[in-house]
Amino acid sequence: MIGEQAGSAVALITGGASGIGAALARRLAGHGWQVVVADLDTTAAARVAEECGGRFVTTDVASADDNERAVAYTVEEFGRLDAAVLNAAIAGRCGLHDFTPQRYRDTMRTDLDGVVYGLHAALPRMRRQGGGHIVITGSIAGLTGSPDVFYASAKHALIGLVRSAAPLLEPDRIRLNTVCPGLVDTPVLASARAALLARGLLLADPDEVAAAVETVLADERTGQAWSVQAGRTAVPIELPVVHLASCSPSDKEQPRRTT
Ligand SMILES: NC(=O)c1ccc[n+]([C@@H]2O[C@H](COP(=O)([O-])OP(=O)(O)OC[C@H]3O[C@@H](n4cnc5c(N)ncnc54)[C@H](O)[C@@H]3O)[C@@H](O)[C@H]2O)c1
Repeated sequence: MIGEQAGSAVALITGGASGIGAALARRLAGHGWQVVVADLDTTAAARVAEECGGRFVTTDVASADDNERAVAYTVEEFGRLDAAVLNAAIAGRCGLHDFTPQRYRDTMRTDLDGVVYGLHAALPRMRRQGGGHIVITGSIAGLTGSPDVFYASAKHALIGLVRSAAPLLEPDRIRLNTVCPGLVDTPVLASARAALLARGLLLADPDEVAAAVETVLADERTGQAWSVQAGRTAVPIELPVVHLASCSPSDKEQPRRTT
């Protein structure tokens, strides 16, 4: 769908000023897309946009209004919105031991609310133009858990969002997927980088994740969570399916309680 029109396709990338988002902006621009970099960091966003021949818009994804503005600006500049890559996130601002409600909210307002607002802002435009594709940058932390508990909680929620919302968007020809990278060599990992390498862990190059997002954008499936790991092909993960108990004779899914 989108891949076929890549010559004129338009992508909005939140968190596009650094790391994975910047790599994606460069990659898509290199393949003929028009890109809009939406980020809190105006200076870096302007730099990436300039490299890509694209545009930038200063955006705090935690603000619903900013998300609306970023979509409106994209459409004003390029006339459509084929892909919204909701990628901005921060590491958790607190864990269990240094928890404060404010730090917890700071984490969730970017990592979860920021994606929900981005989705909400993109949908009306995509519906009007007859379709589109939304890709959310999740994390392996959303599948396995992590000591960064609230970051991991937000990333788990994103998988739930994709699984729940994707079927509802199919009639509008809007696809919704998430990519779940493992460790990626970006500024967010800078302080832990040496220790991770010393443990023998592999860090993906941000462009590997960008390539995976490009693969997902060209894929017809929706509602998928894609695993993206250093040096491995990106693949959709088989997520557990649990059926509701019913009185149907075919309900043999789970052992029945005997006491
Ligand atoms: N680096 C990794 O190991 C890794 C692993 C799994 C998932 N991810 C995910 O990949 C995505 C990109 O992370 P990255 O590693 O490239 O990090 P990064 O820090 O290099 O880039 C994140 C970008 O988001 C921007 N940003 C932060 N808060 C924002 C806000 N409120 N509004 C708008 N922009 C904001 C930052 O300015 C920055 O440009 C995130 O969703 C992250 O959770 C990263």
